[in-house]
Amino acid sequence: MKIGISNDHSAVDLKNSVLKHLEEKGYDVINFGTDSAESFDYPLAATVLAKAIQNKEVDLGIAICGTGVGISIACNKHKGIRACCCSEATSARLTREHNDSNIICFGARIVSTELANDIVDTFLTTPFSNGERHKRRIAMIHEIEE
Ligand code: RB5
Repeated sequence: MKIGISNDHSAVDLKNSVLKHLEEKGYDVINFGTDSAESFDYPLAATVLAKAIQNKEVDLGIAICGTGVGISIACNKHKGIRACCCSEATSARLTREHNDSNIICFGARIVSTELANDIVDTFLTTPFSNGERHKRRIAMIHEIEE
């Protein structure tokens, strides 16, 4: 499984620690985010990751800004993207099971390093439930996109 990670200027340190954690676990991770403390607009960080998912360069994505909110809103403007902003692992599990989410978002000002690792581990290891009602609801979301 190939993972993409992206971030704005507020989340460089947390991005690097999540990246290291995932690489130690053997994941193949592409870093699309900024590595600088210079201001970097989160819609750009979201778009590069969303496009990598759309063109199947990566399977799942991790997007981090200060709160996780701005980058999740921007991710969700892209067709086929189902991004969940959360600050605990239960939502990360349920959004994979119910929404087949392909990007998890959180805030560097909100979650600790340990919690961020917990969220990404849960997100990356939980499969979509494949339930009929969930597939129907996801199809309804994609009708809204059209
Ligand atoms: C950047 O200062 C900040 O606005 C951004 O990281 C994020 O929190 C927006 O939702």
